[in-house]
Amino acid sequence: MKKRFPLSPNPVGWYAVALSEQLAVGGVLPLSYLGQDLVAFRGDDGVARVLDAYCPHLGAHLGHGGVVEGATIRCPFHGWSFSGEGSCTKVPYAAKIPPGARVASWLVCERNGFVMIWYHPTKAPPSWDIPAIAEYQNEAWTPFTRRRWKIRTNIHEMGENGHDGAHFRYVHGLRNLPAPEPRFEGPTYTSHASTVMDTPFGGVIEGTLDIHSLGFGVGYVRFTGVIETLLVSTVTPLDDDHVEAMFSFTVRKLPDEGATAMVGATFIDEVAHQLEQDIPIWEHKTFLERPLLCESEGPIGAFRRWARQFYPELAPRPARTERALPVLVEE
Ligand code: FES
Ligand SMILES: [Fe+2]
Repeated sequence: MKKRFPLSPNPVGWYAVALSEQLAVGGVLPLSYLGQDLVAFRGDDGVARVLDAYCPHLGAHLGHGGVVEGATIRCPFHGWSFSGEGSCTKVPYAAKIPPGARVASWLVCERNGFVMIWYHPTKAPPSWDIPAIAEYQNEAWTPFTRRRWKIRTNIHEMGENGHDGAHFRYVHGLRNLPAPEPRFEGPTYTSHASTVMDTPFGGVIEGTLDIHSLGFGVGYVRFTGVIETLLVSTVTPLDDDHVEAMFSFTVRKLPDEGATAMVGATFIDEVAHQLEQDIPIWEHKTFLERPLLCESEGPIGAFRRWARQFYPELAPRPARTERALPVLVEE
């Protein structure tokens, strides 16, 4: 069967695989992301670790019945223990650990309440970090409210959507299209736009929309206007055809707690609704390597040129064609 998307479903990047609150000290979580079964555990030292799920001894899933001991996880089947680096540290009934007794480990970064892993097809080290954000665990901001979706699409399609200016009108019905000034720098994309939004009380209010993306897996969208809001958007490939998208919202508290909750919830519902408007398109569309773009649709081409860096399988594009067509895949 033809693949829906011609490139790897897993571009290089940091991906959220758990929330910090899901993984208490001594906790174990079975996970399935990036087309692989994984296990996350938090050692007694408080450090979150992620390994491939299957024990190299006889194949038990470490996430189902595995037990944390110190900084290691003990397999539920025959009690072998593995460190966060994946090496076997103990076979309880043998003096000698078989050579090669190890399970693949993942580089973990826990920040802003997310347990994130670094993906690179050749296991190259991270080429960027995930910085701490000021709004997280800040008294002036509400705790995160979350929405989560499983979508039959590719992570690239979701990233591209934000650069598709015309769809904001035809899918989302936005009258005042934001005119961002996008900046692509290394793995980051930033933009700033002025907006006009409806208020929950009727009428409209002017605001701003600032986007800061780090690769495809993590994006921060800051809104001012109705209520100061930060949306942390995390998208993680599940398998070749599905992604998990999560929106984590926090709003700057208004003096009145009830008003914060009401205005915040209304705004969050609206932003989540906009994502849900995109889902039927994403779930059924095909990916065109050579889309037929109009004059004003340059940002899609710019996005695709930026996106190439996350696919190491693509050869660098010769400079002379750099401004030509928005082709993501070399022919
Ligand atoms: S399968 Fe894990 S210890 Fe035997
Ligand atoms: Fe959209």
